[in-house]
Amino acid sequence: MNSEAVLAPFVASSMVGERAQVNIDLGDRSYPIIIDRGLLQDPKAWDGLPPGHLALIVTNTVVVDLYAASLKQALASQYDRVEVCVLPDGEEHKNWQTLQMIFDHLVDDGADRRTVVFALGGGVVGDMTGFAAACYMRGVPFVQIPTTLLSQVDSSVGGKTAINHPRAKNMVGAFYQPLRVVCDLDTLDTLPAREFSAGLAEIIKYGPIADPVFFEWLEANIDALMSRHTQTLRIAVQRSCEIKAWVVACDERESGLREILNFGHTFGHAIEAGMGYGNWLHGEAVAAGMVMAADLSVRLLGLSSTYRDRLVRLLERAQLPVQGPLLKPQREQSVEDYLRWMRSDKKALAGDIRFVVLADWGKAITRKAPESLVCDTLNACCA
Ligand code: NAD
Ligand code: GLY
Repeated sequence: MNSEAVLAPFVASSMVGERAQVNIDLGDRSYPIIIDRGLLQDPKAWDGLPPGHLALIVTNTVVVDLYAASLKQALASQYDRVEVCVLPDGEEHKNWQTLQMIFDHLVDDGADRRTVVFALGGGVVGDMTGFAAACYMRGVPFVQIPTTLLSQVDSSVGGKTAINHPRAKNMVGAFYQPLRVVCDLDTLDTLPAREFSAGLAEIIKYGPIADPVFFEWLEANIDALMSRHTQTLRIAVQRSCEIKAWVVACDERESGLREILNFGHTFGHAIEAGMGYGNWLHGEAVAAGMVMAADLSVRLLGLSSTYRDRLVRLLERAQLPVQGPLLKPQREQSVEDYLRWMRSDKKALAGDIRFVVLADWGKAITRKAPESLVCDTLNACCA
C-alpha cells in the first residue's frame, strides 16, 4: 500500500484546456493516461513505446471497421509489421475460447517478447487482451486504447484483466499494468446511447465513494454530458481517471481501499450473471446495484436516505436503470438467486458476502451485512 498518494481536490475550472494527462504512480510500472480528441492519428500519442518488429492490435468485429485502420497507420512508422486480431463482440464472448484466439494469433504471427499488444475497444476487449498479454510468454508489453466511455473512465486503468467463468463474473484473470492508456474522445462519437449511459454509471460511482464535490458537478452538468459536450466530457473522464489512479496507487492489488471501486458491483454482478451475460450491460447492472448498495447503507449504517435518493435521480437523468430485475418470476426465488450469485463474489470471505457500503456520503467501506437486511434491500429495490 502506498499511503502517501493523495487525491487532489476537484476544481473543474482548472481542468478546462487542451490535452489532459493523468499519471498512475506505481514505481517502475508507472504510466500515463492521455486524454484528448484526435489521439489515434497523432504520432505524439505513440512516441516512446518500446521498439519491436511486430505490433498486434486486438479489437472486435464492431470496432475494427471504425478505428483499426487509423491505428494501424499510426503504428506503421514504429513497427515493421502491424497485425490485427478480430474477436467476436460481446460480454458473452469474454471466455477461454476467445482468449485462445488471441494466443493463436500471437503464435501464428511469430510474436516474441518484444511484441507490443494494443487493446483497441471497450472493456471486454481490454480485459481479455490484458489477460492474454499477461500470459503470453509470461508477459509481453501492452497498451490500452479504450473506445467506450466505461473503458476510458474505469476498465482500461489499473491493470485488472480477466475473463468470465460461466458461474462467476471476471473470476479468472491477473493484475497486469499497461504501458500507457490512450483515451481518444473522438471514438465516443460513434458509441450507441445505451453504451454511453452505461459509461456514465461508472463516472457517477466516483462521487458517493470518494468525491461529493464531483457528484455535485455531475448533477449540474449531466445534461451537457448526455449531449457529449467535449469540454464537459474531458473533465468527467479526467476526474474519473484521477480518482481511479489515486485508488490504484494506494492499493494496486485490492488488499483494502481498492475494494471501494466495487460499489454497486456485488449486486450488479449478480444481475449480469443472473440475467445471462450480455443482456444487462455492465454499467446498467452497476447503476441498479449502486442504488441497492446505497439502500443497504441506509439500513446498515444509517446513511441519510436523501443521498440514496439523489443518486437515484442522477442515474435516472443519465437514462440508467435504478431498480434491479427479478431473476426468477417468484420474488422469494429471485432473492435466493441473488444471494446465491453474490456468495461467489470475489469479495466474499469464508462464504460471507461482503458489500461496499457508504459510511457517509463520499466515504465507502466494505462490510458484512446480516442476510435479513440484504433481503429487505432486494425486496425494496427489485421489480
Ligand atoms: P464492451 O467492451 O462490450 O463495449 C460495449 C459495446 O460497444 C460493444 O458492442 C463494442 O463492440 C462497442 N464499441 C466499443 N467501442 C465503440 C465505439 N467507439 N463506437 C461504437 N461501438 C463501440 O463494454 P464496456 O462497457 O466497454 O466494458 C464492459 C466490460 O468491462 C465488462 O466485461 C466489465 O467486466 C469490464 N470492466 C472491467 C474493469 C476493470 O477494472 N478491468 C472495470 C469495469 C468494467
Ligand atoms: N473496477 C474495479 C477496479 O478496477 O478495481
